Amino acid sequence: MNAVVQQAINEQINNEFFSSYSYLAMSAYCERKQFTGCAQWLRMQSQEEYGHAMRLYDFLAARNGIVQLQAIREPAGEYGSIAEVFQAALEQERTVTKQIDSLYELAFNEKAFSALVELEWFINEQVEEEKTASVIVHKFSMVKDDPAALLDLDRELGSRGAPQAAE
Ligand code: FEO
Repeated sequence: MNAVVQQAINEQINNEFFSSYSYLAMSAYCERKQFTGCAQWLRMQSQEEYGHAMRLYDFLAARNGIVQLQAIREPAGEYGSIAEVFQAALEQERTVTKQIDSLYELAFNEKAFSALVELEWFINEQVEEEKTASVIVHKFSMVKDDPAALLDLDRELGSRGAPQAAE
């Protein structure tokens, strides 16, 4: 396995675990503020990010690569409001999109073709994830401080089920 690509994939595994950890911290904040629907949505998203990390982990394993797990840094645990949490989620997704794009570019330059195919899944996934986060941010911006609308939005977000295994 190409050593440069392997190292970059290991870094992305760490980024995805950080993302999972960060969503879990956002979920804990919402739980504390008694927005249990938002907490549920973020908890499911945390699981999805765990799945992204494991997808790359499995890819390295399948290519006889070396999985090197690194320390996961501490995520933010405090926010000014629930709306701010989702704004931070959107920004986090934009960051991940840039990370995936850079990784794709590196794999391309290194002619790591199997990694390119694997990373195409992530490129598509990021389009979806950014869109989903951006729709939620928009809803919060419409709802503002209207308690009834906030409760409805919390209920809607709480209906999110567990992520499907990514194939
Ligand atoms: Fe794995 Fe939401 O990026």
